[in-house]
Amino acid sequence: MEFTCIRNYTAAPGVGAVQINRPAALNALNLQTMTEIVEAFAACDADSDIRCILLHGNEKAFAAGADVKEMSGAGAVEMLERDQFARWERIRQTKKPVIAAVSGFALGGGCELAMLCDMIVASETAQFGQPEINIGVMPGAGGTQRLTRAVGKALAMELVLTGRMLSAREALRAGLVNRVVPVETYLYEAAALAREVASKAPVAARLAKESVLKSFGTSLESGLEFERKNFYMLFATDDQKEGMSAFVEKRKPKWTGK
Ligand code: HXC
Repeated sequence: MEFTCIRNYTAAPGVGAVQINRPAALNALNLQTMTEIVEAFAACDADSDIRCILLHGNEKAFAAGADVKEMSGAGAVEMLERDQFARWERIRQTKKPVIAAVSGFALGGGCELAMLCDMIVASETAQFGQPEINIGVMPGAGGTQRLTRAVGKALAMELVLTGRMLSAREALRAGLVNRVVPVETYLYEAAALAREVASKAPVAARLAKESVLKSFGTSLESGLEFERKNFYMLFATDDQKEGMSAFVEKRKPKWTGK
């Protein structure tokens, strides 16, 4: 069996790169690919040398959606039994920060997968969209929820109901992506951002990620409480002592992740 997802642990120090690799199908996400992404993420999460994960496709496509050919003949019960969203849930539970480097198509499940990541670096050629309406369905992996939270109701409705694609520039203006960079350097730029995140105190990064994500599913009151507890918890880490001592002593901190 050929792998449809490639792991590269040497993309940059502390960065685990995961590449979706089904170029002939514009990286359409079939069950095998999703399983391999989940496994690659789990391996990165378990590896203490990796502190940030970088997910990318190729210049032409991040991913053009879930694999339509794999889904087209399925009935509702079969879809339910496939339980494909369990894989998405596993990705959502990734502890380490994840950066998506998006070039070309990020459509349907591809857009949803990018939105599942914590930050998006887009090449100038990136195109985002939820075109499921054009094939008689609707987004199923968070498209109606995360896109709406990211870009607001008006634009989310337009994209979901017309299926039109959003250019990288529009995505930047709408707040869907962190930055837009030339296609020639998009992977390098995304790796540089991942490397910067990887250079921070790992436990603080993990709890900070958890706290930001918490804001999407909770009231302000319980979100603040969650944040405060995580903040206090960091005072139990060596890295807090090291980080604050280093600041006072005017030197660079050395993180141990403890
Ligand atoms: C399966 C796909 C695919 C997909 C492209 N391909 N997208 N196969 N699933 N989502 C395959 C094509 O069949 C073709 O293979 C090859 O990739 C190249 O695609 P072309 O269409 O020839 O390329 P192009 O003319 O450049 O058009 C690019 C495109 C178009 C605009 C992105 O491929 C397209 O509209 N794709 C579908 C996009 C989409 O509807 N995505 C949402 C899917 S539903 P062959 O072998 O025929 O040459 C979804 C639901 C998510 O994501 C729910 C949660 C999991």
